[in-house]
This record gives sequence, C-alpha cells and structure tokens, in this order.
Amino acid sequence: MSIRRMTLEDVSAVAALDKMSFSLPWPERSFRFELTDNPASRCWVYDLDGKIVGMIVAWLLVDEVHIATIATHPEHRKQGIARELLTYALRYMSMEGAVTSFLEVRESNLAAQEMYRKFGYEESGRRKRYYKDTNEDAILMTLTGLESLNSKNY
Ligand SMILES: CC(C)(COP(=O)(O)OP(=O)(O)OC[C@H]1O[C@@H](n2cnc3c(N)ncnc32)[C@H](O)[C@@H]1OP(=O)(O)O)[C@@H](O)C(=O)NCCC(=O)NCCS
Repeated sequence: MSIRRMTLEDVSAVAALDKMSFSLPWPERSFRFELTDNPASRCWVYDLDGKIVGMIVAWLLVDEVHIATIATHPEHRKQGIARELLTYALRYMSMEGAVTSFLEVRESNLAAQEMYRKFGYEESGRRKRYYKDTNEDAILMTLTGLESLNSKNY
C-alpha cells in the first residue's frame, strides 16, 4: 500500500508538489494547519519508495466530504495515482459516515473534471470568477450515495 497519512515531515515535499500543480498553491503553513489544527481534515500522501508523488486533503463536515486539494506529481500523472487517492479517501470517510462529497474545479481543468465524472460527480453549480489569478469560474461538483461506496468498483 503506497497511500499513508500525511505527516508534518511530509509538508515541504507536499508543498513542493502543490506548487508544481497549481497556479495558486497553498503555503506550507496551510498544510501544517490541516495536520495540527483542523479536526475536520483528513490528509494522505501517495508514497512511492520515499518519494511523495501524490497528495489529497479532504474535510469531513458532518456527513459531507469536501475535497480541498488533490494533486499528482507531473512525472507520475496518468498512472492511476489520483484515482487511488480519491477512492481511498472517499471509502475511508464513507466508513466515518459521509454520504455526499463536493468540490470546486476550474472550468479549464478538463483532466480533473474527467476524473471526477468517472467517480460519478455531477455539476451542481458555478461560482463566478472564483479564481483570483484568472477570474475563472469554479464548477461545483457533487457526488451522492457514498454510503454504498464499498460495493462500487472504480
Ligand atoms: C487531475 C490530476 C490530479 C489527475 O491525477 P492523475 O494521477 O494523473 O490521474 P489518474 O491517472 O488517477 O487518472 C484518473 C482519471 O482522470 C482522468 N484524467 C487524468 N488525467 C487526464 C488528462 N490529462 N486528460 C483527460 N483525463 C484525464 C481520466 O479519466 C483518468 O481515468 P483513466 O485512467 O480511466 O483514463 C492531475 O492531473 C493533477 O495533479 N493536476 C494538477 C492539480 C489539479 O488540477 N488537481 C485537481 C484540482 S480540482
């Protein structure tokens, strides 16, 4: 199993990966906050022989999972890593009682949208000019039925 909980020792590698993946990356202190001060937060990394090649941060808010961030190292994309991370996180939180999941994604981010659609996420709204660097809209996507997740095979 290459997926494990993120620790404080992972934060600099995770922040570096985040920086390679997003035009508005999180500062290191945000990842530290998630690990130490946010009880809703669940953070995992994909550890390939000591190299952090994927990460996911999700928040469990009562029975809803909000995917806060997910990324795969550019050299390791299209190998199923994000799919494994998202599957793991959703299964884990469905066992904690989650029944729905939601997230925001840039309208230009077709790769991520494609992945989410494969999981069954559907567009449920838009946030106008949500991303401050490009003024792009965020597409809000929602997935229901997490309670039956264990029987689904993504
Ligand atoms: C989006 C991202 C997380 C996908 O990570 P990944 O590990 O390459 O994805 P996977 O290999 O697990 O692919 C899962 C599915 O995503 C879709 N997908 C992934 N990359 C894709 C691409 N370049 N184009 C189209 N669809 C793509 C496919 O449907 C794929 O399913 P398949 O393997 O059956 O074809 C990765 O491209 C990334 O880190 N991007 C930058 C950060 C980001 O945009 N995060 C999401 C924010 S909302």
